[in-house]
Amino acid sequence: MALVTSNLKKEMSFLTAVSEAFKRTDGNSAFVVLNAETSEILAIKRGAPLVAGLHEANSDASVSSDPYALVGSSETIYFPGDEVLVLLSKRNNDIISFFELDGSESKNYKSKQQEMSLEATDKGDFEHFMLKEIYEQPGLIRDLVQFYLAGEGAELLTKVSALKPEKFHISACGTAAYAGMVIRDFIEHRNRIPCAVELASEFRYRNPLLREGEVGLFISQSGETADTLAAQGLCVENKMKTISIVNVEGSTLYRDCDENLLIRAGIEIGVASTKAFTQQALTGCLLSYALAGDLTSEEKKKEIADKYSLLAERIDDILSRVDELKKIAEEIYNYNGFFFTGRGQYFPVALEGALKLKEIAYVHAEGYASGELKHGPIALIDDQMVNIAIVGPKLFDKTISNIQEIKARRGVIVGLGPKGESDLDDICDFKFDLNFDGLGELSPLYVNVANQLLAYYMAKFKGTDIDKPRNLAKSVTVE
Ligand code: AGP
Repeated sequence: MALVTSNLKKEMSFLTAVSEAFKRTDGNSAFVVLNAETSEILAIKRGAPLVAGLHEANSDASVSSDPYALVGSSETIYFPGDEVLVLLSKRNNDIISFFELDGSESKNYKSKQQEMSLEATDKGDFEHFMLKEIYEQPGLIRDLVQFYLAGEGAELLTKVSALKPEKFHISACGTAAYAGMVIRDFIEHRNRIPCAVELASEFRYRNPLLREGEVGLFISQSGETADTLAAQGLCVENKMKTISIVNVEGSTLYRDCDENLLIRAGIEIGVASTKAFTQQALTGCLLSYALAGDLTSEEKKKEIADKYSLLAERIDDILSRVDELKKIAEEIYNYNGFFFTGRGQYFPVALEGALKLKEIAYVHAEGYASGELKHGPIALIDDQMVNIAIVGPKLFDKTISNIQEIKARRGVIVGLGPKGESDLDDICDFKFDLNFDGLGELSPLYVNVANQLLAYYMAKFKGTDIDKPRNLAKSVTVE
């Protein structure tokens, strides 16, 4: 800002003063500068999120790092390119105008109509956004399948599957990376196309083997995660096509990828991602169906729609029994540590369950593949350690024997598993019954809702700031 002030003192115009100052900055950043004398605002960015919004009838314009912040105040949203000056001024005919660094008019921006209403940003009767977002999941699943099988989404899936990748490089961060692991299982199982899943923060620095003909698949709620964007850029440098599975339409990832599959989760306000995870994984599953050519058959489409609606129904059932999970949370929230364990398709949701718990309840939690415990972490098990054991019908006996090993070391067992299995019921200190019948590959997304609610209630008993946990940001726009 000192640079801008000193430029203004040299009699430069406001636009030139900001532009000249910005030219002297390095790295990724976004600036918003208010001229107190004229009430004009200039905003500019490089490799960081910046959006502008306009409400023409009210003669109102705003800037923000996130389009969701403009819901209710703007009808049109503008996404400027890098190094484009956005001028907000009531002195011009156009309240918002765009300029290049040399002062000439710029066309380097995109715009779209705001589709969200203020209602979407309201908690309603829920105490926290996180809880509201968990409860939205059944409805969102039903909408997603409609959109992709019977609505505008069908064309998007056709376009993406036409890329016919030799291999997918899936890259993302945090919860989105765990959704990537679930998607890898769908694609490798159904399409037999190899998928490498990697944390974007590692991928970009590892000099990975990338070839033309392979496709980069990037998963993100915000579409603004710095490492994910850099991983996408690396694939582009290697002449690969790139696809996003993303929530925020118009975000940087959305604009940079060749094709995009929207997850249609609506605004996710809770820092802990819940509904976005479910929608990301389910969009990836629809991609696997499209790649298999299944969406050309009406019979197959009905089968898929039925499967998604069965998942929504089963999640509704978990939500109707929330008091059972609340009770378990009350019994265990004061223990020292938590191991979430699962095998095969449940391993990614063991990781996700642990991440959710640590980020909102501030307790030490780890996600582990059940079979790996004896390779080290079992040394940590004692009567102060809780094992949240995710037990699906597949590999049931093997998973039970892993739990027995924990029980033998006095660990506290919380079983999330099928009803009426006495082998499981007998070793659990606490048990939440699940009905996996007919869910098949979608089962991880079902049990994960129990994980989300356990984390939510443990955090509530601990009294943490659930929607805005300490040290965390909703979009991680820096490395
Ligand atoms: C999820 O609960 C986390 N807050 C975090 O891991 C998040 O998923 C990650 O930062 C990726 O964000 P994105 O989906 O917006 O790219």
